[in-house]
Amino acid sequence: MPEIHHSIASVMRERSSVRKYKKGLRIPEHILEEIMSLAGAAPSGWNLQHWKFIVIQEEERKQRLLPIAYNQEQIVDCSAVVAVLGDWEANNNAEKVCDAAVQAGYMTPQARDKLVHQIHHTYATDDSIDAKDGVINPSLAAMQLMLAAASLGISSCPIGGFNHEELRRELQFPDRYKPVMLITLGYAEKTAHQTIRFPIEDIVDYEVFGGKA
Ligand SMILES: Cc1cc2nc3c(=O)[nH]c(=O)nc-3n(C[C@H](O)[C@H](O)[C@H](O)COP(=O)(O)O)c2cc1C
Repeated sequence: MPEIHHSIASVMRERSSVRKYKKGLRIPEHILEEIMSLAGAAPSGWNLQHWKFIVIQEEERKQRLLPIAYNQEQIVDCSAVVAVLGDWEANNNAEKVCDAAVQAGYMTPQARDKLVHQIHHTYATDDSIDAKDGVINPSLAAMQLMLAAASLGISSCPIGGFNHEELRRELQFPDRYKPVMLITLGYAEKTAHQTIRFPIEDIVDYEVFGGKA
């Protein structure tokens, strides 16, 4: 198990989007596995885990991803690209999740039946849940992935600029899944450029919108 060597607060403060990577370096398998495992530990609605990650490390495939990501060089320079996909039919995970919870003794069979019914009913009657939950939940996992990487000394950059249909063709994922973002991972050649954040008083209100502390 790789050692996590930074506090969560310092990782959050220090993470930034790296776009210049040292080329030709591979992330050790145990580090990559730990990053992916920590990403998968993210919370999700009904614990349906509406995500799938495709890790791309082959040079030829990264070269083919380059034009798909509008020629952002970081795609080929980084050690790995992770495609974060959202599951738009995550209700189909209900039985798998709930049965495992019953098996582990975390849920009664009665609670399982109620929950499975509720999940399928909601997906059948709420027109927007597939899209909403298919983006919110993988986004939480993506953030967790980047923070996990930073804690293990691996830099990252989220990428929203890419052609979704061309990505689907290249990575061969079925319609059930929609891409949420790409994440480059690797070893920084150049530190990220500095970015600003709004001061806390601009982003936090109290009690009601516009309310002061
Ligand atoms: C959803 C999303 C999409 C992004 N897309 C791109 C992108 O296509 N290319 C890129 O270089 N950076 C991209 N970024 C990185 C942002 O530019 C960066 O997070 C922001 O400027 C703040 O900088 P920091 O991450 O270094 O703190 C994206 C970030 C997010 C969250």
